[in-house]
Amino acid sequence: MVEERIGTRNGSHRFHHTMGVVATAEQLAIAHGVDVEKAKIAALLHDVSKHDAFDAQRKLIAQHYGESFARSWPNQLLHGFTAAIYAKETCGIDDPDILAAIENHSVGRPGMSLLEKIVFAADFLEPGRGKDPAGIRELALVQLDRAIAKIIRFSLDHVRKMGYEIAPLSLETQAFYDPYLEDAE
Ligand SMILES: [Fe+2]
Ligand SMILES: [Fe+2]
Repeated sequence: MVEERIGTRNGSHRFHHTMGVVATAEQLAIAHGVDVEKAKIAALLHDVSKHDAFDAQRKLIAQHYGESFARSWPNQLLHGFTAAIYAKETCGIDDPDILAAIENHSVGRPGMSLLEKIVFAADFLEPGRGKDPAGIRELALVQLDRAIAKIIRFSLDHVRKMGYEIAPLSLETQAFYDPYLEDAE
């Protein structure tokens, strides 16, 4: 289902990324003692609506979360919410932690659950992206919070360089995880 839905909108690239996130989420779930099945389901569905029209996504979010919430996100950050709606409505998934991991995979949030952190990190670390700045992939297997802090810093630097809009929640997430960069070990 996911392959067909993603493939018809964006060819195979997004599906390869998705399968990379599934594999990475599985490794991280094993390393951190998290339910592997939940991690794989959240990873499989995280980008399922990424290539849907922005207008349609915003409308769907307005129906489920309200107008002002729908208006508060830049276009590229809508798909976590619409993917969670798809997971719930089309796939019948009602596990709140899986739905939160899908919703929050793009910018994270302060105080993420382990499952949310795993999907957030796997999205960045999957091998298809072909980058592993500062050895974060290994670090994520042992110090997940510290790895997340590095991912956030790297991603926001990139977003700033590209001149994209930064969501307020991104800065709150960064403020929450930044202290983990100070940890020695
Ligand atoms: Fe995404
Ligand atoms: Fe993704």
